Amino acid sequence: MKDSATVGDAENGGNKPWNAGGSGSSSHLLVKWVVKITVFFVGFAVLWVFLYNSASPFGFPSISHHFIAVSTKESTESTLENVLRNASMVDKTVIITTLNDAWAEPGSIFDLFLESFHKGNQTKKLLNHLVVVTLDQKAYTRCLALHSHCFQLETKGDNFTSEAFFMTPTYLDMMWRRIEFLSSVLKLGYNFVFTDSDIMWLRNPFTEFYKDADFQIACDFFNGNSYDLKNLPNGGFTYVKSNERTIWFYKFWFNSKDSYPNMHDQDVLNQIKMDPIISKMKLSIRFLSTAIFGGFCQVSRDLNKVSTMHSNCCVGLENKINDLRILLEDWRKYMALPENQKKESHSTWSVPQSCR
Ligand SMILES: *[C@@H]1O[C@H](CO)[C@@H](O)[C@H](O)[C@H]1NC(C)=O
Ligand SMILES: *[C@@H]1O[C@H](CO)[C@@H](O)[C@H](O)[C@H]1NC(C)=O
Ligand SMILES: *[C@@H]1O[C@H](CO)[C@@H](O)[C@H](O)[C@H]1NC(C)=O
Repeated sequence: MKDSATVGDAENGGNKPWNAGGSGSSSHLLVKWVVKITVFFVGFAVLWVFLYNSASPFGFPSISHHFIAVSTKESTESTLENVLRNASMVDKTVIITTLNDAWAEPGSIFDLFLESFHKGNQTKKLLNHLVVVTLDQKAYTRCLALHSHCFQLETKGDNFTSEAFFMTPTYLDMMWRRIEFLSSVLKLGYNFVFTDSDIMWLRNPFTEFYKDADFQIACDFFNGNSYDLKNLPNGGFTYVKSNERTIWFYKFWFNSKDSYPNMHDQDVLNQIKMDPIISKMKLSIRFLSTAIFGGFCQVSRDLNKVSTMHSNCCVGLENKINDLRILLEDWRKYMALPENQKKESHSTWSVPQSCR
């Protein structure tokens, strides 16, 4: 009676098949079969998810390499998000630089860049927040050997490995890819300081930024007024807050490349910076003083004030390396002075030398 009643339940669409008492009843076998099939598919899905996720740089290299090659845009972005999250400061700010093989080779720019964080005043801890975006596989491998936050940017068939000579098509592609990439960082909600890797970090710049600006940019030549759009900016160093205005602006900037063919991002910025639409969109732009964010175009003479130094206005990789080495040595000598002598010494740079 009991058995037939229970089986009857199942046959009538009862939802308690596990209680089916009649051993060997047809419904029991069906359930076992369904369970087996389900376990098989769940197992398959778990395996697939595992392989898919190993596209992160922390998975198995051979598998992840294959999956990076075929990955969709979405999986690339989720990997980027992982790297950004891990490098982020509490307020969702990261420091970003880009690197190709010519600059990543031992003894080249990347070594000097990292060295500056170690020699700078309290800049070493900032390395925890530095994301190095590599443009080719060799640079990526070298980055992983020296640093904890590396991201390999897909470059869609372009080859950015060798020294990209100023204003060649490869150079232009590389610069525009950078703007596009930074745009995606903003869309993910991260503020960033973008820094070329030929910029030496000597003091923490975060205490020197303007508190209220959306977009702050260093200058080749600074005229003394941080609001003046006639300043000549240098796209190699920017501090950008993620908000709807900056997300709009990076899209506008990137799209403007088609209106000004054969110009790089910085020249296009100079073309569009006065566009009335920018003030209409209420984007606040400030230009950073070369006394603090200096470079070889307009040298910051006072070592007591300088935060970063850029080997701008300098053509040729060897010339940059030569002068940045001298610059770091100047800085080392300055830092070795007793505190009271630092202010009085009127220490200054012995560069540019090769960069003229
Ligand atoms: C996170 O960063 C640390 C170093 O700061 C690194 O050792 C670790 O591998 C990173 N993990 C991920 C998932 O990015
Ligand atoms: C280095 O940083 C500390 C702490 O901010 C400061 O007290 C010191 O004066 C700085 N030294 C130089 C040379 O800037
Ligand atoms: C990229 O260029 C470098 C040097 O010009 C060359 O050695 C390398 O094989 C190239 N890589 C690809 C994938 O074309």
